[in-house]
Amino acid sequence: DKGNHRHFMAKEIHEQPEVVGRTLAHYVDMAGGRVALPEALPFDFAKLSRLSITACGTAYYAGLVARYWFESLARLPVDIDVASETRYREAPLEADGLTLVISQSGETADTLASLRYARSQGQHTLSIVNVPTSTIARESSAMLPTLAGPEIGVASTKAFSCQLTVLLCLAIHAGRARGVLDPARERALIDALITVPGLMAEALTREGEIEGLAREVSKARDVLYLGRGTSYPMALEGALKLKEISYIHAEGYAAGELKHGPIALIDESVPVIVIAPHDGVFEKTVSNMQEVAARGGRIVLIGDAQGAAEHGLDTLATVTMPDLDPVVAPIVYAVPIQQLAYHTAVFMGKDVDQPRNLAKSVTVE
Ligand code: F6R
Repeated sequence: DKGNHRHFMAKEIHEQPEVVGRTLAHYVDMAGGRVALPEALPFDFAKLSRLSITACGTAYYAGLVARYWFESLARLPVDIDVASETRYREAPLEADGLTLVISQSGETADTLASLRYARSQGQHTLSIVNVPTSTIARESSAMLPTLAGPEIGVASTKAFSCQLTVLLCLAIHAGRARGVLDPARERALIDALITVPGLMAEALTREGEIEGLAREVSKARDVLYLGRGTSYPMALEGALKLKEISYIHAEGYAAGELKHGPIALIDESVPVIVIAPHDGVFEKTVSNMQEVAARGGRIVLIGDAQGAAEHGLDTLATVTMPDLDPVVAPIVYAVPIQQLAYHTAVFMGKDVDQPRNLAKSVTVE
């Protein structure tokens, strides 16, 4: 049932404040100001020397965001790869190390094969899944659910933001276990986390602006997405979402990589979507925006009021997100990224819930 929405994808985008809130309530002791995992994990983060993450598609991008969180909040080294590579790489994995797999369906063939490989190496396996009865959930040594509810649209939206939510909670838990986060810092992070459903609701109110912007984007043959830090995987996710439902060619890049090649593509016909909350790397991203502007590129900034006031460049549009603690930015910024892809595809008359050539659950390799 799509409720009063035209597509499941729209419904699922709009459900995010609610399902992220539900997921948070499952992982956070609000009164205590700390993460409280629903069950004890059968390994100790303090004893790990490395975390290996594997997943496919959008779930892989959630893992890429989480790498920044595990490294900065828990000082835990992370390696991460797409599951279709992990399963054949013959990577040496330490016995008693930890492999984390992320999957909405819990049935993705490559992700399952990577999980089985990790087990064969004597690793602990932890899965973050949206379907708790799935094969991946059953075969992992521990499972943390995302409480997104059934996701019908082929393009993943609410499962992604719920994955990010669980991953940030897990990174905070790991940071405490490893003696990196003291109670005051953990409480501050929880304070930021519990504002997220409200911030997502606010982000959803920018839909009218994004619809206007989607008309412009729909005329493009190619679109570039740029970001730094956790906004880099968000750029990858933005490009994936746009290409899978609108069939416009889109690429995501780390903003600092622009001058190493992709800048050659930039001219007036290429919209450049810059994802940049006012965080510690904002100024560095502005210098990349200047490079784009100098070549006639049309910039769309997905950022905040402070950043918009500071950059001083001509832009095609600015999508203004609410002020927030940059640590939670990816969860909130998922909303405009999804809406831009959605409205572009709808404007072009595409079937957003059933894009061509794609299946909801990829159980073959
Ligand atoms: C993109 C999308 C896919 C899935 C990928 C993994 O919108 O939906 O990229 O994220 O096929 O699927 P799961 O998470 O079920 O393992």
